[in-house]
Amino acid sequence: MIRIIATNPYSDQRPGTSGLRKKVPVFQQPHYLANFVQSVFDCVEGRQGAILVVGGDGRYFNREAIQITLKIAAANGFARIIFGRSGFLSTPAASNVIRQRKAIGGLVLSASHNPGGPDGDFGVKFNIANGGPAPEGFTEAAYARSKVIDAYRILEAPDVDIDSLGETQLQDSVVEVIDPVADYQALMEKLFDFDRIRELFRGGFRFSFDAMGAITGPYGVAIFEKALGAPAGCVLNAVPLPDFGGHHPDPNLVHAAHLYNAAMRADGPDLSAASDGDGDRNLIIGKSCFVSPSDSLAVIAANAHLAPGYAGGIAGVARSMPTSGAADRVARKLGVNMCETPTGWKFFGNLLDAGMVTICGEESAGTGSSHVREKDGVWAILMWLNILAVRRMSVLDLMRAHWAEYGRNFYVRHDYEEIDADRAADLMKSLRARLPALTGQSIQGSRIAKADEFEYLDPVDGSLSSNQGVRILFEDESRIVFRLSGTGTVGATLRVYLEMFEADQSRHGLDVSDVMAPLAAKASLLADIPGYTGRSAPDVVT
Ligand code: G1P
Ligand code: ZN
Repeated sequence: MIRIIATNPYSDQRPGTSGLRKKVPVFQQPHYLANFVQSVFDCVEGRQGAILVVGGDGRYFNREAIQITLKIAAANGFARIIFGRSGFLSTPAASNVIRQRKAIGGLVLSASHNPGGPDGDFGVKFNIANGGPAPEGFTEAAYARSKVIDAYRILEAPDVDIDSLGETQLQDSVVEVIDPVADYQALMEKLFDFDRIRELFRGGFRFSFDAMGAITGPYGVAIFEKALGAPAGCVLNAVPLPDFGGHHPDPNLVHAAHLYNAAMRADGPDLSAASDGDGDRNLIIGKSCFVSPSDSLAVIAANAHLAPGYAGGIAGVARSMPTSGAADRVARKLGVNMCETPTGWKFFGNLLDAGMVTICGEESAGTGSSHVREKDGVWAILMWLNILAVRRMSVLDLMRAHWAEYGRNFYVRHDYEEIDADRAADLMKSLRARLPALTGQSIQGSRIAKADEFEYLDPVDGSLSSNQGVRILFEDESRIVFRLSGTGTVGATLRVYLEMFEADQSRHGLDVSDVMAPLAAKASLLADIPGYTGRSAPDVVT
């Protein structure tokens, strides 16, 4: 029976960079999740009789959330609701299912790389029919709806068995539980040369993949160990846990420091990799060689044609503005399109749909392609394996060769986390106010060529996104970008992105933090970071 439940709106349901993210207790407030899900559905035109996909990373509150979501979806006229067994379906796999099954869209229950557990984070993101995150116009409409919602529709029914494959009837809707890995694996088999990668492993290639107690464990075991023959046990933390085993499932140099340390040893793996809570991020470390995500994007763009799915070449590359320009150099050489977008995967969807680009990436450990409309951690790792299987060289030699050919974009990001939100806003305001005056000024001996705030005019739908980060561009091509995170749940996070180009090959082996120290000092001075944040050093350097 469908029930109409009266409710009061919450005022804080505005989606950020990547959906609505809050602490678990916030989501556990009465009607909180239901209000948001109904607000989203109210904005989905044509939902009657349509297919909906529900993805999830298995984090704490996922099992409760999926039951609520299923019952609201069934009461809102969706004819079929597809989700992964036990609520597990990685973000890229969900994107694939939306596309393959011609769904009208999907809800991804995840807070990505944010910690899980009763005091951790939870999140909900809506993806549209192309499989990608809903554009800003949609998320703003859902937010507007959430501020006035006074009732939601929900089915009064016993809980659905989410742990057994197959179909069940839920009033007028069919609920379909699928294997979370199968369709995704089939897609990967089409894109990559599994025979070549199998050969690589047979030759003794040493590989380590950390699923970080999150969603990619089952994907890693099925694909790397079973299908490709990597040694059993090379997938670490392979069982998805509601609190990710207490770890922070963010594959960066801080939260996956153990992988980095192992990779720097003489007997370290040839390739160490990791993914995040919901499976869309990736970390790539070769023996004695960390590959920055910006460099990884450039290497993938330059070598994608070695994988069967991209043998015909790529149409272009897109990167978020704070991502380094390493990929631009590759695109220029290949003579393909290069697009610069604001931070957040949602901006790539239109470019991919229009066929303008094939490969996309962000400095925040996100890389992907036109195969789905999300970034894809396991895909990026398979791409690296495919490239290494063909080129037969170490990651370090591959990077050296790449830099020798294109020059090296030294790059680092400094995060100041959980700082006072008002002070962080003041820091940005003060910077913005000084932008016009900064051009032409010198700071510690470097002249500023241009200082502005990035805005993006989408070439496909004409939409304008403003206030997408402050850029300070120096005459020597180095750059500082300041922006506030849109995914945090406590206070504010200031991100400072530092980049410097080096053409001289004899300097490519220098230590990144040494090279970047002068630029970091300029950033600190320009924005008075210690004054506004009370911090003398960043919390995360990646
Ligand atoms: C962060 C990253 C961004 C990424 C997003 C979702 O957003 O910086 O590149 O798309 O997470 O994974 P931010 O917290 O900076 O708004
Ligand atoms: Zn993620």
